[in-house]
Amino acid sequence: MRYLMVDAGRVVVITGGSKGIGRAVAMRFAQEKARIILVHYDPDETASEKTMDALAKQGIEVESHKVDVSSFEAVDVLFKDILSRFGRVDVVVNNAGITKDTLVMRMSEEEWDMVLKVNLKSVFNCTHAVLRPMVKKRGGSIVNISSVVGLVGNAGQANYAASKAGILGFTKSVAREVAARQVRVNAVAPGFIQTEMTDVLPEQAKESFLQQIPLRRIGSPEDVAEAVYWLCSDAASYITGQTIHVNGGMFM
Ligand SMILES: NC(=O)c1ccc[n+]([C@@H]2O[C@H](COP(=O)([O-])OP(=O)(O)OC[C@H]3O[C@@H](n4cnc5c(N)ncnc54)[C@H](O)[C@@H]3O)[C@@H](O)[C@H]2O)c1
Repeated sequence: MRYLMVDAGRVVVITGGSKGIGRAVAMRFAQEKARIILVHYDPDETASEKTMDALAKQGIEVESHKVDVSSFEAVDVLFKDILSRFGRVDVVVNNAGITKDTLVMRMSEEEWDMVLKVNLKSVFNCTHAVLRPMVKKRGGSIVNISSVVGLVGNAGQANYAASKAGILGFTKSVAREVAARQVRVNAVAPGFIQTEMTDVLPEQAKESFLQQIPLRRIGSPEDVAEAVYWLCSDAASYITGQTIHVNGGMFM
């Protein structure tokens, strides 16, 4: 499905854009009338259609693709298609992510591989697919969504923590590789944010997280979206290789 708009704005690709933080990021970019491409891998289109409708109501040109971002080939095909039709990509928000929580002693090889592939390899895949055109155009902004867990660790989330810490090393390295061409690469590390990913946690776990948050509230997807948007704006044109922590003070 695709909605068209006459005015041409920035071309923004958001992985995991169907719901949660990705949806909030899309809604934030909608305020500048960007052209938005959502990528998701939900079993059905319910969430992505809801997001597309909300964006279309604001007159935004939006399209949605069900693509597994952990697949190098599928991502390459997707970006080639986007680039051929739009001529450029200005922003990529690497936000798709999953959890497969369990203690390392009980963790299967599949649980390890799956989380690393979806959360970390996907960031390489999308970056690889878009970097050359951005470098050629001498501009672009990539924001990778990490997590506070990648910085402080969390029992039961070793695979997730490793993927999110990996994103930070990747972000800094790519930032150094392309800075001279005015392409900026940054990360946002959210703390505890209310989305479907955290809705499944037991009440006791949520309460215990809350106790660790100095600002004494769970974050909203919009809290994260604001930081992502700002990093992609001209206001942040001298910022690259950085991580913005959106966590209510959980980690300082
Ligand atoms: N919610 C939190 O508290 C929190 C905290 C820190 C970091 N994060 C990170 O923020 C990002 C978004 O989290 P959320 O809470 O909005 O999650 P969510 O579960 O609400 O949404 C996840 C999105 O990722 C997409 N996705 C999952 N696997 C995919 C794949 N293989 N290919 C393409 N898309 C795929 C889903 O379709 C969906 O659109 C994730 O990277 C997550 O690790 C979330």
